[in-house]
Amino acid sequence: MNPFIYDIPTKVYFGSNQLGHLGEELEKFGRRVLLCYGGGSIKKTGLYDKVKAETDKAGLELFELGGIAPNPRVQSVRDGAEICRKEKIDVLLAVGGGSVIDAAKFIGAATFYDGDAWDLSTGKGEINKCLPIVTVLTLSATGSEMDTGGVISNPDTKDKLGRLDRHMLPAVSFLDPENTYTVSAYQTACGAADILSHIFEEYFAPRPDLYMLDRFMEGLMKTVIRFTPTAIAKPDDYEARANLMWTSTWAINGFVNGGKSHEWTCHPIEHEVSAIYDITHGLGLAIITPRWMKYCLDEDSAPKFAEFAVNVFGIKAAPDAMKTARAGIDALAEFLYRTVGLKDNFTELKIKREDVPVMAKKACGGGRIDGFRSLGQKDIEKILYDCFEPYVSGV
Ligand code: NZQ
Ligand code: ZN
Repeated sequence: MNPFIYDIPTKVYFGSNQLGHLGEELEKFGRRVLLCYGGGSIKKTGLYDKVKAETDKAGLELFELGGIAPNPRVQSVRDGAEICRKEKIDVLLAVGGGSVIDAAKFIGAATFYDGDAWDLSTGKGEINKCLPIVTVLTLSATGSEMDTGGVISNPDTKDKLGRLDRHMLPAVSFLDPENTYTVSAYQTACGAADILSHIFEEYFAPRPDLYMLDRFMEGLMKTVIRFTPTAIAKPDDYEARANLMWTSTWAINGFVNGGKSHEWTCHPIEHEVSAIYDITHGLGLAIITPRWMKYCLDEDSAPKFAEFAVNVFGIKAAPDAMKTARAGIDALAEFLYRTVGLKDNFTELKIKREDVPVMAKKACGGGRIDGFRSLGQKDIEKILYDCFEPYVSGV
């Protein structure tokens, strides 16, 4: 168990009818606000009007950057930073899902960077400062509302790169589950797969960490498994949406990490798939994760997968840990592909096998991913090739 620092100072307003505090929070940072949003869902849902009413009430000057795409493009970051510099923006207001919030994070950093905004994704450029960020979350998935990360795509280079930096941590986030009532069944399912993956990336660790954190993570996983089907069947179920929203935040706000130092695995692999094919992040993870689990399953890892099977899916422990472990992986696949209805293979997404070597090579940076299991390019290729066939249970 390694020593660690936990320091996540994002202020959260959770629950209904909290938007009345938006003006007072924004004006702490200044009066010139850049509102960032996506392809228009906030206009359809009426959230745009509600936000505008609050900023008008507080007498704030509002500028806008709309059209931020899922898998946000570096061009949005460049455009946003230009507005911030030209209009002397004091604070960013990101209203949307992870894509909008991630873009706002990089806009905030790029405003103070002299070179091309893409340098901040590649690591060539340093992030020394960022505009303050206030978020109004509309989709439970990425946890971007309370984490230091952001992921930006560059269609010219076919790269999708994530970066963590404390300067980009949102200052304030408004988490109203009602703002997620309009999220489609598909995006709700993808969000669930993403939340689960954030937990798996920490839970399946090469060395044990705090017992307490493992039990906490199992609680988060059980919450996703319990409430996602409800949110899909009844999109305005407050209890389901609230549980998913707070779970998405806590899955990746640093708490469950404890002092772990291993690398994440499924995320860098998935990012290479969505970099080329622009698929939804959670869908890519849903297809990759059970294959990765099967690939990692051996006599050494079986007890951990068996623990997952018993504590998360309530599977009765068999005398043979391998058998219990396999049942747990199959239960996860059943949840992702049957219960919440996500596709179970790349072939249906028209992904081409010929791209596998390059995706695998980029995922491990030409070296290895030192995660739950250390994986090199050939290992990742095998996992990815397995994703082209429909998932088979019981093996
Ligand atoms: O663009 P609009 O019109 O707003 O529509 C969005 C988009 O089409 C829609 N949507 C969002 N809220 C809605 C809604 N539709 C109806 N009602 C609402 N309330 O949903 C679609 C997907 O939105 P997006 O923001 O792309 O989804 P998500 O939150 O899953 O974000 C995905 C991005 O975040 C990155 C992913 O790689 C991907 O680029 N990630 C960010 C992370 C982070 N910051 O820590 C970690 C994650 O692992 C992930 O990599
Ligand atoms: Zn993710």
